[in-house]
Parts: sequence; structure tokens; C-alpha cells
Amino acid sequence: MNAGGAQKNPPGRRDFYRTVAPVYDLLAGPFLRPVRNDVRRIAAVLAPARILDIACGTGEQARMLAGDGFAVTGVDLSPAMLAQARRKGAGAGAYFLGDARHLPFAAGSFDLVTIMLAMHEMDYESALKVMRESLRVLDRGGTMIVFDYVRGRGLVSRASLRLFHAVERMAGRRHFRNFRSFVQKGGLEALIAGHPLEVLLRTGYFHGAMGLAVLEKMH
Ligand SMILES: C[S@@+](CC[C@H](N)C(=O)[O-])C[C@H]1O[C@@H](n2cnc3c(N)ncnc32)[C@H](O)[C@@H]1O
Repeated sequence: MNAGGAQKNPPGRRDFYRTVAPVYDLLAGPFLRPVRNDVRRIAAVLAPARILDIACGTGEQARMLAGDGFAVTGVDLSPAMLAQARRKGAGAGAYFLGDARHLPFAAGSFDLVTIMLAMHEMDYESALKVMRESLRVLDRGGTMIVFDYVRGRGLVSRASLRLFHAVERMAGRRHFRNFRSFVQKGGLEALIAGHPLEVLLRTGYFHGAMGLAVLEKMH
């Protein structure tokens, strides 16, 4: 865990977001705005005391939640993305460099965990590990919000998903392979199945290519 200062990835591990980090908000911001606003509305209802944004990237979701008065912590693997997050100011959340597969937080440390658009880019085993870690750091009765690709049922949602193939392909060969495997395995719905989570709300975006799940930790 590393809370501040110059941060580098461990030797041998490239920061895949180094090039995209400075323009990420510009590119993804407008497209993600409706989803981020929904997350804010859900948080306003839940009123969690402690929020963890896993794979927080440039901290845009965390910044918004912090602006709404919540205590938000962000964790991400990319120093370049975290550098952007920290640039947003002291009141925009506390950020840690870390791997979500081994979260540097004690069990039960948070009341709400958010994971926005990150699971699909991990290999599936890692995504499952992140699910387990999220559950571990979540307090009893806590809530998890996960936003990612869904399998896509029907012509329209499959066509919409097809358009995202082009975007994901641009992110590199490994990223694209993980994305494809994530969707083939059943996307968000398959990922959350089999965990001790009760679905409180499920909603779709971009003609059903992506979905947001609000889940309560059962025990
Ligand atoms: C597409 S970006 C999404 C960023 C942010 N959640 C958002 O809403 O804009 C995916 C992020 O997941 C992070 N990430 C991928 N694997 C990770 C891991 N194992 N642990 C922590 N962060 C990870 C990447 O560094 C990147 O910042």
C-alpha cells in the first residue's frame, strides 16, 4: 500500500494506462456521466459511512462521491491513473496504489464498494479474486455496486456490444482477450452469481451492452 508521493509499478510490470491516463476523463467522461450520476443517487439513498472505489482509475467516481460528502477511498494498480486522481485535490478522496486482488484493507472496513468498468479487463480468475476481496473488506450488510459489460440478449444489445468490441480492441491484445472471455462467460451476471450477495437493483445502459448491479452482502 502506498498513500502518496511518487509511485511506480513494480519492476517488470508496465503501466498500461500511462498513455491514456491524461485523456481518460476527456474520452470516457461524457459517456460514463449517466452511470456515475446513478451511482451518486444510489449512494445518497444508502448513505454509507465508508466507501471504497476499487480500480478507481482517475478517481472521477470517487471525486463525485466525495463532493457529495462521503468519505471515499480509491485503490488502483496504475500510478498514471492515480496521478490524475490526486490532481483533483485533497477533498476528492484518499488514494492508494494497490492490487485489488489483494486489497490492503482489513476485513469489514467499508460499507459500500464500487467497481466501475474494471472487471472485464482482468483475466477471469483475477476478477473472481477481486469479487472475493470486495466481499472481505465489505462490512456485514454492506453494499457492492458493480458496473460492467453484460452478455447481451437480443439483437439490439448484441449489436451495441459489437460496437464496444472496437473500443476494447484498441486497448491492446491482452485487454481485448480478457474482455471477450468476460463477455463469453456471461459478463456481469455470471461474475456476481455464486457469491453471497442479494441483488437489490439491476439496470442496463447502452442498449443493454452494459449493466449496473447493486448487491447486498448477505453474511
Ligand atoms: C477502464 S478503467 C476504469 C476506471 C474507473 N473505475 C472509472 O470508473 O473510470 C479500469 C481501471 O482498472 C484498473 N485495474 C485493473 N486491474 C486492476 C487490479 N488488479 N487492481 C487494481 N486496479 C486495477 C486499471 O488500472 C484502470 O485504472
